[in-house]
Amino acid sequence: MKMWAGRFRQPLDPEFESWQRSFPFDQRLIAEELAASRAHARSLAAAGVLSQTELDSIVRGLEEIGRQAAASESLQDEEAEDIHHFVEKQLVALIGEPGYKLHSGRSRNEQIATDLRLYARRSIDNLQSGLGELLEALIARAEKAGNAAMPSYTHLQPAEPVLVAHWLLAYAEMFFRDAGRLADCRKRLNHCPLGSGAVAGTTLPLDRQTMAIDLGFDQPCANSLDATSDRDFAIEFVQTLSILAIHFSRFAEEMILFATREFGFVRLPEAFSTGSSAMPQKQNPDAMELMRGKAARVVGDAISLMATVKGLPLAYNKDLQETQEPVFSASDAMEAVVSIACRFIAAVEFDYGRMHAAASSGFMNAMAAAHYLVARGVPFRHAHEQIGHAVQWCIEHHCELEEMPLEELRQFAPEAGQDFYSHLTLDAVLGCHDVEGGTAPARVRQALPEAREHLAALRGELHAHA
Ligand code: ARG
Repeated sequence: MKMWAGRFRQPLDPEFESWQRSFPFDQRLIAEELAASRAHARSLAAAGVLSQTELDSIVRGLEEIGRQAAASESLQDEEAEDIHHFVEKQLVALIGEPGYKLHSGRSRNEQIATDLRLYARRSIDNLQSGLGELLEALIARAEKAGNAAMPSYTHLQPAEPVLVAHWLLAYAEMFFRDAGRLADCRKRLNHCPLGSGAVAGTTLPLDRQTMAIDLGFDQPCANSLDATSDRDFAIEFVQTLSILAIHFSRFAEEMILFATREFGFVRLPEAFSTGSSAMPQKQNPDAMELMRGKAARVVGDAISLMATVKGLPLAYNKDLQETQEPVFSASDAMEAVVSIACRFIAAVEFDYGRMHAAASSGFMNAMAAAHYLVARGVPFRHAHEQIGHAVQWCIEHHCELEEMPLEELRQFAPEAGQDFYSHLTLDAVLGCHDVEGGTAPARVRQALPEAREHLAALRGELHAHA
């Protein structure tokens, strides 16, 4: 039976009927729907709409539906319009007439708003614990890298040497911000729509506060029009996931680049690569390419949510049914990416030798050379120009700055002395970036335990939710 058949004289166009159903995709909200239904039923009983016996039978029925759903791959029901209809049908089949009482004083508009919030909240919690493991893996790799050095790039041109640990901790910073954004989003979404009715608030004396607490929400949503039509939480969640996806995409891009023969900084784990059916020699970075590719999907999901909501008058409109799939798509994509990335980071190998060699050539000590002159009183602009001339000379003579004879150097930089060379070694160049957030080994040794503390604090907050 349709939930709204009473008013209609004609049957639905069959193609339209099947096209407008959300059951094929919203059935994944079964756990949320059952939890919200139980909270509503308790509240109906407290308001005297259900007897204790009816409440008990409804709660047992809901539990049975949960058990059956957990035992089957997917839920089959050709008629159910959506997950709300499905649960009602099942309940009536299991317990009879009292099943029809469950819908008293509520609307599917508040139900879907509640289910989707609960779903996003659960996904945030999964992602947060995944990000905790990912950060653990990243920090552990950074600790293991010791004082190994690699080039850093700007414009993808060699810039200055940095510690490998410093490079890895740059990604840790991004993921810490993502965790912060997720926590922030969780705070704002954790308000409960139940009791909002279809649009104007329920007509029964339901205790909204108790329903909210029952479902782990901090408080009821303050306005029924907003509660039933708001999808800010979905937008914010998926936008947060897009930023997370972008971070993984940049990481993946560097892995792909650094695993090329030309760079050779990274050896891809075979367990995360695939071969070519045509070219026998290939080992392709598919895991990283897909990670980069998923960012496109998630950014698209965020755009699709914003576009759906943008022109909607208050309150519920069926367009809002279209806000479910982007949430599922983005959360599926990112939960998988976090898990794969975690294992990839633990398994990937770095070729410190190649990184060291690359960091030791290509004039990455030119800025340090200019600062050597600055320390001798040369204005930076002149020092920059003098070292620029020296670099030019070296390019013509196929050598590095530290291989340039002092008398040649002095034609450009008269202030340079014999100690110039000791300022240009890799260790000296790394060591002189001795500022908070800089790559000097002493600073990175400080940054590592700070990152660990940050991670411990993050895990403490997660623990509070669990
Ligand atoms: N399946 C619907 C959705 O996802 C549930 C709400 C239906 N409400 C309505 N008034 N037709 O949006």
